[in-house]
Amino acid sequence: MIRTRIIGTGSYVPPDILTNDNLSEMVDTSDEWIRTRTGICNRHIAKDMDNADMAYNAARNAVEDARIEASKIGLIIVATSTPDYAFPNQASLVQAKLKAVNAMCFDVSAACSGFITALDIAASMLKAGSYKYALVIGSEKMSEIVNWKDRSVCVLFGDGAGAGALVGHERGIIDSNIYNDGTGASVLTGGRRFSDSCSTDIFIHMDGQEVFKFAVKSVPTAIETLLHNNNMDINEVDKFILHQANVRIIESVAKRLKADKDKFPVNLNEYGNTSSASIPILLDELNRNGSLKQGEKLVLAGFGAGLSWGSILLVW
Ligand code: ACO
Repeated sequence: MIRTRIIGTGSYVPPDILTNDNLSEMVDTSDEWIRTRTGICNRHIAKDMDNADMAYNAARNAVEDARIEASKIGLIIVATSTPDYAFPNQASLVQAKLKAVNAMCFDVSAACSGFITALDIAASMLKAGSYKYALVIGSEKMSEIVNWKDRSVCVLFGDGAGAGALVGHERGIIDSNIYNDGTGASVLTGGRRFSDSCSTDIFIHMDGQEVFKFAVKSVPTAIETLLHNNNMDINEVDKFILHQANVRIIESVAKRLKADKDKFPVNLNEYGNTSSASIPILLDELNRNGSLKQGEKLVLAGFGAGLSWGSILLVW
């Protein structure tokens, strides 16, 4: 059976770091509040670069890691909620920089569930035999849509990009489930409303507690369903790579699943919530530091605006 395997990973975060102490000089907050409520210490901010620059850097690293020629890539999908333009899409900008001349290109807008959604789409297309190699990227310049005067939001987010190079293979993605509930759309919004030409409000608006409750309920249920459908026990999973929004959400998901907390790697302390980029950045870090062993079973899980959520089961 043809599955989709991740054969290379890459990531990029901009060099400028904004610490909790820096933020406490901008709004009424403190390092202690941010760390204890979220687990975040730093976030990286793209001052002089576009989303496409970060996406390209992550993509190039993934392609190098996979040792494939850019011209062999048949499909590029960028998951992003903060594109540089309404059009062309980010994937076209990456394609040009990468010289991936034979790739079909489009973007996916699914907020923090963007990477798993794009990965699921790419896997279906590879499985159908349409392409041999694909590139899936999560890239966000959240700093553009953060209101730096709103302490309830500005402490949470950061910029960055992560990518996976994919190939049709006998080992790889086993199954997935991606859900959406548009009736919860108003709980978490960001960006300008195009139909309101007078609007200058481009910022993220979030009911943090509602998002928290939604995440700790929906993510464990999605993972349990995925494992049940594949006759797997929670203990058979080697690592759970969750969207990095808040360490308390990750701990709560682990507890609800009755899973070993140590199987949930965390890097949000350094990057904050990078939305669609958080899962591939973490995946790349684990891949590069040798934490992922061939044959390990991984669950990737995302959640965010939409409301959207879901999980993917794969063999590394
Ligand atoms: N510094 C200090 N105090 C703050 C800050 C801050 N940065 N932000 C809020 N507060 C205050 C509030 O005003 C409130 O004060 P009050 O009690 O006097 O009214 C108090 O702290 C508690 O506020 P809560 O909102 O109840 O804090 P909570 O414990 O819920 O934590 C948080 C807030 C961190 C946002 C949490 O709700 C959360 O993580 N939610 C999930 C958010 C999330 O994951 N969003 C991203 C989704 S991904 C995507 O799709 C983009």
